[in-house]
Amino acid sequence: MGARFPTAVSGCAVESAGKNAGESAVRSTTRSAADGADTADCALQVEELCVSFGAARSKIAALDRLSFRLRRGEIGCLLGASGCGKTTALRTIAGFLRPESGCVHIDAQCVASPQQWTEPERRGVGVVFQDYALFPHLDVAGNVGFGLRRHTAAQRAQRVREMLELVGLPGSGARFPHELSGGQQQRVALARALAPAPSILLLDEPFSNLDPDLRERLALDLREILKRAGTTALLVTHDQYEAFALADRVGVMQAGRIEQWDTPYRLYHQPATREVADFVGLGAFLPGVVEHRDGRSQVQIELGTLPIHARTDQAIAGAAANTRGEVLVLLRPDDVVHDDASTLRAQVVRKAFRGAQFLYTLRLPSGATLLALVPSHHDHAIGESIGIRFDADHVVTFDVQETARTAH
Ligand SMILES: Nc1ncnc2c1ncn2[C@@H]1O[C@H](COP(=O)(O)OP(=O)(O)O)[C@@H](O)[C@H]1O
Ligand SMILES: [Mg+2]
Repeated sequence: MGARFPTAVSGCAVESAGKNAGESAVRSTTRSAADGADTADCALQVEELCVSFGAARSKIAALDRLSFRLRRGEIGCLLGASGCGKTTALRTIAGFLRPESGCVHIDAQCVASPQQWTEPERRGVGVVFQDYALFPHLDVAGNVGFGLRRHTAAQRAQRVREMLELVGLPGSGARFPHELSGGQQQRVALARALAPAPSILLLDEPFSNLDPDLRERLALDLREILKRAGTTALLVTHDQYEAFALADRVGVMQAGRIEQWDTPYRLYHQPATREVADFVGLGAFLPGVVEHRDGRSQVQIELGTLPIHARTDQAIAGAAANTRGEVLVLLRPDDVVHDDASTLRAQVVRKAFRGAQFLYTLRLPSGATLLALVPSHHDHAIGESIGIRFDADHVVTFDVQETARTAH
């Protein structure tokens, strides 16, 4: 993977009074796993968890020192491609798999390590499985009340009513799973998992069986339900939009580890590694040179000069650069603005209609390409030269020694 040393610089070109104003530009990797959360604030703490499958010679490491922390009431998400270890992480936290090393703490209690073990039913963990796993022979009330065996019949009925109201299905207790749509079944599965008031709710790709149109809306609904109930939740998915719509913090996973554990905004605008930049969103990497003048730092790229904000730790800014000051600068499509008045021109080489916007692939005079999102009433032909300028809150630079490639 090479030396990964991105620099996240806030307040470039346009001084942001928004999302990250006042935040010092520190590298995300240094704060990624712990994020300053005290153990006492943590509902879930996963430390250096290793899980593997198979016998000695054909061993597959599904989790390779996985670490992250989730505060009480927070919604976290593990985001990654199929096979990166998401389900294994959930199963280990729930208590269906034993770790080889590392530990899982729930509410500051170690529930799983090579030395310590708490049975799954004593962990206070609720799970919503990928296929919902509703009991087909039980009605909705029977499904939702299933885990409430210690309650009296009256308490159970009351809790089932509350849960069905919470998930937006009041009065549907007598219906059967086969009479419900996919989205409704998903809500029943959620009500069932929430009914015993778990410390943590785990959700494995909860929307994967639903229409893509429904997913983002349901993700927002689910977020509202979880926040209303004050539940700490960990979701796993391969879908970036689901992760971003639902979670407060997202961990981008690769090969059993977390590359970066951060807010969706920072994952997108301040990716800690090239892998994260590639996995989350579109973008292009352009060569640049870091310069220091009059106590200020800037990055010179073909599009012009990008000033590095004064708050930036300049030692960090310089660290991505080689001895000649060369870096690669990540430009997201929304960092590149179409402006007829700009003297900087780029040629349209590809275009994709996205409804409200076109995604243009543009070629700069040097031959380098970048992406730009442009309102779709600016309908330019392939081969045409259009004016552009750079406009972003953050400039993210990477080590040039890494193989250059375009995020897509
Ligand atoms: N029960 C198992 N036996 C053997 N290998 C497994 C088992 N479960 C998962 N794996 C392997 O562990 C890796 C991670 O799997 P998984 O956690 O299911 O990934 P994800 O949920 O991200 O798709 C994969 O290589 C998978 O083939
Ligand atoms: Mg899975």
